[in-house]
Amino acid sequence: MKTDNGREVQRDQGGRLRHLLTLEGLSAAELLSLLDLAQFYVRHPGDLPARDQSLAGRTVANLFFEPSTRTRVSFELAASRLGAQVVNLDLHSSSRVKGESVLDTLYTLQAMQVDVFVMRDSQPGLPAFVARHVQPHVSVLNAGEAHLSHPTQGLLDVLTIRQRKGDVGALSVAIVGDIRHSRVARSTATALSTLGVGELRIVAPPALMPDQDEFIGARRHTVLADGLRGADVVMALRIQRERMADANAPDADAFCREWGITSGNLRLAAPDAVVLHPGPMNRGVEISDEVADGPQSAICQQVTNGVAVRMAVLATIVRNVQLRNIEAGGRAV
Ligand code: NCD
Repeated sequence: MKTDNGREVQRDQGGRLRHLLTLEGLSAAELLSLLDLAQFYVRHPGDLPARDQSLAGRTVANLFFEPSTRTRVSFELAASRLGAQVVNLDLHSSSRVKGESVLDTLYTLQAMQVDVFVMRDSQPGLPAFVARHVQPHVSVLNAGEAHLSHPTQGLLDVLTIRQRKGDVGALSVAIVGDIRHSRVARSTATALSTLGVGELRIVAPPALMPDQDEFIGARRHTVLADGLRGADVVMALRIQRERMADANAPDADAFCREWGITSGNLRLAAPDAVVLHPGPMNRGVEISDEVADGPQSAICQQVTNGVAVRMAVLATIVRNVQLRNIEAGGRAV
């Protein structure tokens, strides 16, 4: 059965975004409006972070059923810099492990007037399932769904690319590594394709390539040098061992030798190529220290942009709730 990616459910009756479950189905104009708002929230390192009160009085609950550092913290900072109250659930000791269903957990939080659920889970389709069940004023934001989708990561990757290299239409972007198991690769590729990327390459050993019915339009390379040659952007991905049977996982040393991005093979890319990685990095496996910390790396910029992108998404979603309220003439939506 095809997974429900939430494309149909993420809009309200007026066609506005109510949830962010997937980047699939968003128009270029919608992506650009989120990216422009995110750019407005970006501040130079050393400056005070952007703040406003767009989420004053709202409550955002972070529900991460899978480990996360940067995504969870950046959603928390984004919400609190917009004036929201944030609750982080400690899900290792939470009710789900005691057998309470996800919906019961959500209904409990909803009864405490939570307005936005930020969710990460290994179960495909869960964000869309939850979105179909929450009260009309509640929004669900997907912070990582199985291997399928990670929409805010896709947005922050594209924001970083635009800041460093300009419009994506003229660029050749190579995504390298474990693409088969990567939700980041899927969401970033969707955003890049919608925005008319010049060329998208997926570069991986055959075992880590996605099926043929995915990444339509991308060029497939199973030799690293071919995939890197002349690329303007190189995105390295870690091996997602948690999504593979141990027997199928590649050996880290062999992967590093054949697929690791190093200053040596990065010379094949364009001289001013920019390097991305969503983190967490396995230094010395998919990326060398020299590249991760070198002048072509935009990895810290991605993290900075992550907060700005999540601010933009939260502000947009909450503004749309207010618009629905106005249209409903003050009646509850
Ligand atoms: C990624 C994720 O969790 O999907 N990390 C992130 O959100 N920044 C990628 C990964 O875990 O490798």
